[in-house]
Amino acid sequence: MDQNGMPVVKFFSGKQIPVELHKVRIVQKLHLKKIDERYTAINEAGYNTFLLNTKDVFLDMLTDSGTNAMSDNQLASMMQADDAYAGSQSFYKMEEALREVFGKHYVLPAHQGRAAENIISQSFIKEGDVIPMNYHFTTTKAHMELNGGTIFEIYTDEALKIKSSVPFKGNIDIEKLKNLIAQYGPDHIPFVRMEASTNLIGGQPFSMQNMREVKAVADQHGIIMVLDASLIGENAYFIKMREPGFSNTPVKDILREMCGLADIVYFSSRKVSSTRGGGICTDNKDLYMKMRDLVPLYEGFLTYGGMSVREIEAMAVGLYETTDDTVISQSPSFIAYAVGELEKLGIPVVTPAGALGCHIDAMGFLPHVPQSEYPAGALAAALFIASGCRGMERGTISSVRDENGNDVLADVELLRLAFPRRVFTLSQTMFLIDRVNWLYQNRNLIGGLRFVEEPPVLRFFLGRLEPVGDWTAKLIKKYKEDFGNSL
Ligand code: F0G
Repeated sequence: MDQNGMPVVKFFSGKQIPVELHKVRIVQKLHLKKIDERYTAINEAGYNTFLLNTKDVFLDMLTDSGTNAMSDNQLASMMQADDAYAGSQSFYKMEEALREVFGKHYVLPAHQGRAAENIISQSFIKEGDVIPMNYHFTTTKAHMELNGGTIFEIYTDEALKIKSSVPFKGNIDIEKLKNLIAQYGPDHIPFVRMEASTNLIGGQPFSMQNMREVKAVADQHGIIMVLDASLIGENAYFIKMREPGFSNTPVKDILREMCGLADIVYFSSRKVSSTRGGGICTDNKDLYMKMRDLVPLYEGFLTYGGMSVREIEAMAVGLYETTDDTVISQSPSFIAYAVGELEKLGIPVVTPAGALGCHIDAMGFLPHVPQSEYPAGALAAALFIASGCRGMERGTISSVRDENGNDVLADVELLRLAFPRRVFTLSQTMFLIDRVNWLYQNRNLIGGLRFVEEPPVLRFFLGRLEPVGDWTAKLIKKYKEDFGNSL
């Protein structure tokens, strides 16, 4: 174990590295194209990494959503799927897995996480309500606001600090929660939401202690608690590694305790169980009945909810694998390695290392690019040009304009480099680190971006941008000087 508690192997030389605790049995050919081709690709994609075609991408670090490697057992289970519109045996296997892993009796399937958010928001939020949470996710916020709610992010002072040694930056500030309840009253608070491994602030977990305290406050006021469990495996893993009293507790028991504190647990299966789909679980029949009838309306019948039966089979297996201490450690160990190496090189990166990916602080990386010129988006485009690796902008481009049409500058400008579970090897990780380092040494060459086409809703998905000035040409010239014909 290293200082973050990650399983690592020590070499005779003393060096410590993460090791792939699986073997590769199915492979996909990758393409590392020449820099001029990478430039053409990002230009055609409007400097938006979402619009790239994977035939041009070397390491696809856009997301871990639907891109985790599936296991042999998951693939095998798909062959046994029971095709039926209603009453499929595959659904009952998945229901059983969810009852065992999350410990909740009632299960509603949904085609993915945001579909679960739609159902929960429509069922519980009314005009004028407020929803306290540790931090929003893009789709969560959009659904809650669509239903007339306003979100309040009541994170602790440490949450948005890039460099930190606080192990649980995803915690809710209990005083802020109490104040919010006193200000708005429990009748206007349909639920408190906690997001495991808080995505947008760098995959940062909350502690069990914090969740217990939030639950106690919510209970005092008769407010229910909703847990976004999309990244619960990693959050449970960090509790095991970082929270006193849990080092000998299996991840599966920690995960059960977390779910036990929530009244409703929902998830994106694209993340938590390495397949597609999503769902909602609860032990409370009244809550279940409030949501149930929306499933056939938006998703599909109650025993498939918009998913294929094959995915449902693989989800059941994937859920058990998520609670395996070795399986769940893989992505965090590679992230911790990458974060550690980047830190040694002086590159500003979110610490402590979290779940999902390694998050580079674009404002620290490119202090000369004003936030209005989207430093995280510019860095994502520059990294693609320099390496063929695609990351995701998580900053101002991912925010929405205010009612006057002005950009709302994001709290943090991050370039997220996702590490889907069991997908990339150590040499690929080293390549990424090398090219990020090269960019950092040449950061003064990188400029900003501006929109040329901007959709009004979730603009980061489909918006198109262009460089401000001719910085891409300068960057490519320097790359060729330094790397010659090397890819
Ligand atoms: N909640 C969290 C915490 C998420 O990270 C996501 C998706 C969702 C809800 C929505 O789930 O995509 O299945 O509809 N996160 C992906 C990402 C998209 O790239 O981080 P979905």
